[in-house]
Amino acid sequence: TGGAHDGPRHSPHPDIAEVLVSSDEIAAKIVELAARVDADYAGREILLVGVLKGAVMVMADLSRALTVPLTMEFMAVSSYGSSTSSSGVVRILKDLDRSIEGRDVLVVEDIIDSGLTLSWLLKNLRSRGPASLEVLALFRKPEAVTVDVDVRYVGFDLPGAFVVGYGLDYSEYYRTLPFVGTLTPAAIERGAPA
Ligand code: XMP
Ligand code: MG
Repeated sequence: TGGAHDGPRHSPHPDIAEVLVSSDEIAAKIVELAARVDADYAGREILLVGVLKGAVMVMADLSRALTVPLTMEFMAVSSYGSSTSSSGVVRILKDLDRSIEGRDVLVVEDIIDSGLTLSWLLKNLRSRGPASLEVLALFRKPEAVTVDVDVRYVGFDLPGAFVVGYGLDYSEYYRTLPFVGTLTPAAIERGAPA
């Protein structure tokens, strides 16, 4: 923020009501987070675990901004419940391909809302005996602070509203928007891009 264009940011997409985080802001934050991770893991090797599908953009950009040696794994989990809220009952749709025993694992998440998904995931991963287990989440919603999950790296704190873009979806759409924003009521009603 700052500069000559403060105030409401005009929507760069017809279905977006308000841009909450611009692509420039995301890019700068990724660089900042990568520098912290690089420093914290100096001399070690990281195993990045991306949580599909929302974290794909963060994984792609963060992994290329890091300089420590790393490998990548992906997991897909699904929480039973509606499409816009989580129940904490989690099902593994795609498990890791390899053992994480003795590895320095950094879980990469798109957004933490209730924290229930993450809390379950951390318990699951911890039982596999990693040397260390930390979390990086690009976005965090207000509700997350009430849950007892320790997230070492957080990009942005967002208001409670449902958001899309940069990996985040509404009925699988809008993941490829380079920014994060709220949807218009019309787009929510429609459930798909016009
Ligand atoms: P919990 O509540 O368990 O849920 O922390 C985290 C997961 O819920 C999804 N989520 C969102 N997805 N826009 C989205 O597109 C949002 O505003 C949003 N809030 C939560 C997301 O999959 C995340 O991993
Ligand atoms: Mg989703």
